[in-house]
Amino acid sequence: MKVLLATQKPFAAAAVAGIRNILEGAGHEVALLEKYAAQEDLVAAVADAEAMIIRSDKVDAAVIAAAPKLRIVVRAGAGYDNVDLAAATARGIVVMNTPGQNSNAVAELAIAMMIYMARTQFTPATGSEIQGKTLGIQAFGNVGRLVGAKAKALGMTVKAIDPFLSEDQIRAGGAEPASDLKDLYATSDYVSIHIPATPQTVGSIGYDLIASMPKGATLVNTARKEVIDEAGLEKALEDRPDLKYATDVAPDNLAVLKEKFGLRVFATPKKMGAQSAEANINAGLAAARQICDYFATGNTRFQVNK
Ligand code: 3PG
Repeated sequence: MKVLLATQKPFAAAAVAGIRNILEGAGHEVALLEKYAAQEDLVAAVADAEAMIIRSDKVDAAVIAAAPKLRIVVRAGAGYDNVDLAAATARGIVVMNTPGQNSNAVAELAIAMMIYMARTQFTPATGSEIQGKTLGIQAFGNVGRLVGAKAKALGMTVKAIDPFLSEDQIRAGGAEPASDLKDLYATSDYVSIHIPATPQTVGSIGYDLIASMPKGATLVNTARKEVIDEAGLEKALEDRPDLKYATDVAPDNLAVLKEKFGLRVFATPKKMGAQSAEANINAGLAAARQICDYFATGNTRFQVNK
């Protein structure tokens, strides 16, 4: 089968070599499209692809329409909001993710961002310590649980909330369950967001939640920019000069936020949570194995459009 590895943000060379090794070893052919400049490049590259491995690359209806032979798309990572599931499903294309494979890299970045903001972006100004502070984790999945474990090791009190987990399951994961989302935000010095972008979550974190955070609190977003109501965030930062925001997914109003709030706001230049060699290898190789397995045995364990 012809497998297209399409990564606008390329994997580490070792991950690409490993992916090739697995796929070619199973008799598949690999085509590589990296750092492409325009979406049209992706549309052109899928013409003869029977499988695809992607990261945050947009597999929209146009890409699917341009790929008549496509049978499977594996998102090497967790979030699959970049894939048009309805269009894929309508064509009978299997869509999978590789849950957990890049979680540690994202969790480490969330912790790093907390410390970076606590130390006023590594400027000489007097900062604060995260030890002894309370961290609220919004969604206690693969990433959230790792953030919680690391935060506990750093001496933080860890609370969490997750609509899909019971209080006992949250306790078993090592965190105190918050009674609801309002409680999580109102009682946490740091909130780390780990929810996917879905119709239910887009724009769901706005003024009321952010402005309810305790004095000096920091909101950390290594999830998706879309889950933030950006106007609400801006107003909360305006009304509460003690609040801070750090994100791995630059908001559309970043220039305004930077101008108005300076060191209280930080955004990475390009999404980098999963950008470690280890995460690239874990997620990339898992994606390659899942494709081999799907073609060899029909295994759809990680299919997200069943
Ligand atoms: C994910 O959903 O797995 C992360 O956001 C990583 O995305 P990336 O592969 O584009 O870095």
